[in-house]
Formats: sequence, structure tokens, C-alpha cells
Amino acid sequence: MKVDVLLGLQWGDEGKGKIVDVLTNNYDIIARFQGGPNAGHTLEFDGIKHVLHTIPSGIFHKGIINLIGNGVVIDPVIFENEINSLNKLNLEISELVISKKAHLILPTHKLLDAASEHAKGKNKIGSTLKGIGPTYMDKTGRNGLRVGDIKSKSFNEKYTKLKNKHIELLKFFDFEYKLDELENRWFESLETLKKFKHIESEHYLHKSIRDGKKILAEGAQGTLLDIDFGSYPFVTSSNTITAGACTGLGIAPNQINDVFGIFKAYCTRVGSGPFPTELNDEIGEHLGKIGNEFGATTGRSRRCGWIDLPALKYAININGVTQLMMMKSDVLSGIETIKICTHYINNNKRIDHLPFEDNEDLKPIYKELKGWNKNLMELENLSDAPKEVHDYISYLENELKIPIKIISVGPDRKQTFFR
Ligand code: GDP
Ligand code: IMO
Ligand code: MG
Repeated sequence: MKVDVLLGLQWGDEGKGKIVDVLTNNYDIIARFQGGPNAGHTLEFDGIKHVLHTIPSGIFHKGIINLIGNGVVIDPVIFENEINSLNKLNLEISELVISKKAHLILPTHKLLDAASEHAKGKNKIGSTLKGIGPTYMDKTGRNGLRVGDIKSKSFNEKYTKLKNKHIELLKFFDFEYKLDELENRWFESLETLKKFKHIESEHYLHKSIRDGKKILAEGAQGTLLDIDFGSYPFVTSSNTITAGACTGLGIAPNQINDVFGIFKAYCTRVGSGPFPTELNDEIGEHLGKIGNEFGATTGRSRRCGWIDLPALKYAININGVTQLMMMKSDVLSGIETIKICTHYINNNKRIDHLPFEDNEDLKPIYKELKGWNKNLMELENLSDAPKEVHDYISYLENELKIPIKIISVGPDRKQTFFR
């Protein structure tokens, strides 16, 4: 049995949480492999809407193991809040285990994130201010604290050493802060984190694979936010791509089976950075309004635009996508002409991929397809969808050369069609 991977092909918020929840019944283990509480994964079922940040999206299914992998960074305060809000729902939730090698986000990591963004001024990344960048910097700088350290005798000493280093770094910025309260809350919340099983998750997964268990690796963010292949520096600090599932869980590349690539029927982005097909007009506003495009983590409004085929083809190649899933198809209803970016023009030259430089001056070239009016949210069967919906799907499939296996027409579990 091999491991399937599910990840976003755009700039995040494609609907990963919803589809992981929809697919969970096919798996024994759902494992988050990277990112941290910068993620906001939304699930809707039985009239409940729930947003997860650190906890894998399989949590609402009985008999499943949810695993937080070594590639994830954990803020114990946010983790505790997530656990509390899950408990309030009074639903039966499944087991959650955590890699000892997952790194901890310290209160001073969050301060450094805020100080760094503040210093960048109008060039800021637009980070979620969850301390993601500084935590991954300490991981690669070999200074980080890990979940497996929490119960060790030297934990407080290690914490103080790292905190003091951060306090020195904060002096570099013109940034005021108060640490005491944040720190007290952080130590309090460690008690909740301690109650969960901390495991050597790579060994656990290797054994699970040998035992024939089915595993789904859940990504966060999206391919265009990948630290190596995204629109650097306007990216997150982890590898959001299939390779990130290998390093973020300890799974060998030849153990990867299907790669599910999720994309919206249009495009969104939160935070700064290039976005060639962005619409700064009433259609962009319309997409944001109908698609309810507000960040699940920060509440910021998402920038909206047309679907971008060069970017999607790039993401498919980087990830080795075997199946596509198109989300939020319902949001395109009521638009007379739908545009699809097929390539870009820069300095009178055709360009088929996002270039290293001059991202800002790219002119997207569009294929136009006729839109539809029918509200797709109420469809009983996909075959009842207007011809124009099928034309849109076929056009994308022809261009992308990968089958689109799921069409999502609403936020609820049930608003999902398999093809
Ligand atoms: P994730 O980060 O990839 O899990 O995605 P988010 O949860 O941040 O954002 C996706 C948003 O779209 C959430 O509010 C979902 O409830 C919602 N959503 C997911 N699929 C659909 C869909 O097919 N149609 C509509 N209208 N909303 C959807
Ligand atoms: P999910 O998993 C959308 C964006 C931020 C910012 C950049 C860097 O819900 O799809 P960071 O806090 O990571 O240092 O921010 O990345 N970003 C996301 N955008 N969805 C996400 O996660 C994101 N996580 C980070 O807006 O532009
Ligand atoms: Mg999200």
C-alpha cells in the first residue's frame, strides 16, 4: 500500500480541508506534512462549519488516526484553542498523534514575524503573523525546539536560550512588544500538547505502510507559495509540494502513489506578490463576494482573478499530479464570459510560464468561454449541469492532460461530484 498526497496547486485556500474530509473514509491515517497555523482548512457538514489550523482534516471521522508530521510547526496556544473548540462541538473525534520532530512556534517567533513585516513596510510579504518564517529559520539554523523536547529536563533551559537570542534579534527592529503575558499563556498551553501521544512518526508510518494501512498526506498552503518554487519572496517558508510530503513525514519518494491536485475554478491569493490574472474590477469583486473570499485564518479579503493555465501546468509538473479536483465551480455561475489564461505576453514575446524576473509586467492572454446562469449548488447530478459547465471542464482537461475527478459545487461535504 502506498501513500496518496493531497495538495493545493494555486496560492492556498483551494478547498483542501473540504476534500480531505470527503476522502477520509477511504483511509486509515490522515497526516499533515508541513506548514502550521498559517493554514486555515474549512470543513462543512450537518450544518456545522469548522476551521482547522494545525489538526489534520480527518479528525471528524471515527476510527481514523490523524497525525501531525515532523514537517509541521506547532503553536501550542493555537493548538489548545483548536482542541477546545473541537471539544465544544460535542462530536466524536478521532485519535490525534504528533511527531516528536515537529518544531514549536515560540511567542518570540511571532514577535519576530511581526517585527520583520513591520520593518519591510510596503514590501511586506503579507504573512499571517503566526511566526511561521522565524520558526522554520530556527529549524534550518539548527536552533529550534521540538515537540519531543517538551518533556525533557533541559526544556526550560533550551527555551530561555532561544528566547534570549530572539530578544537580541528584536533589538535590531524598531518594534515595541510585551512578552510576559504571551509567554505565560504559551507555557500554560503546553500542558494540553503534553496530553497527546508524541511519537516517532516516520517509524510509525513505515510500519503502517508495511501493514497495508492506507495513508493520505494533507498539504497546507499551495504550490505557488512553495519556498523553492513559489513566487519568492512572496511565499511561505516550507515545501508545500509533493516532495514536502516525503521530508515532512519521512516517506520515501517511491512510496507516493496518487497525487491529488486541488484548484479553484478561478484563482485567489492572500497577501502580497505577483498575480498575473488578478481582476481589479467588478468581476473580481463579484468572485470575492459570491465565493466568500475571506481568509479562514486572518479574515483578510482574498485577491481574485481568472484561472491561470501556465501556473497550473507548472504546479502539475512540480507535484506529479495524477488526479485533479476543481473547487468552487458554483462561484462562476452568472458570469457571461469566463476567461482562461493560456499564456502571457511580455515585451511582445509569448511566455508559457511565470518567469524569474519581470513578473509584474506580464500580460495574460485569455481564451473566452461562454458562462452559465444556473446555480450549481443545487444540482443533484453533475449531468444536470448546463452544457457550458461541461465545456469548461473539458477545455481544462484537454489543456492540462490530467483527469478532473472531483467537481465541487459548494462548501458542504455533500456538494461534491465524483467523475
Ligand atoms: P483550504 O485552506 O484549502 O482548506 O481552503 P479554505 O478552507 O481556506 O478556503 C476554502 C473556502 O471555500 C472555505 O470557506 C470552504 O468552505 C469553501 N469551499 C470549499 N469548496 C467550495 C465550493 O465548491 N464552493 C463554494 N462556494 N465554497 C467552497
Ligand atoms: P491554507 O493551508 C493562503 C500566505 C500568506 C502570505 C504568505 C506567507 O489555508 O491554504 P506565512 O504566514 O506563511 O509566512 O505567510 O503565504 N499564506 C497562505 N495563503 N492559504 C494559506 O494556507 C496560507 N498560508 C500562508 O498570506 O502571503
Ligand atoms: Mg485556507
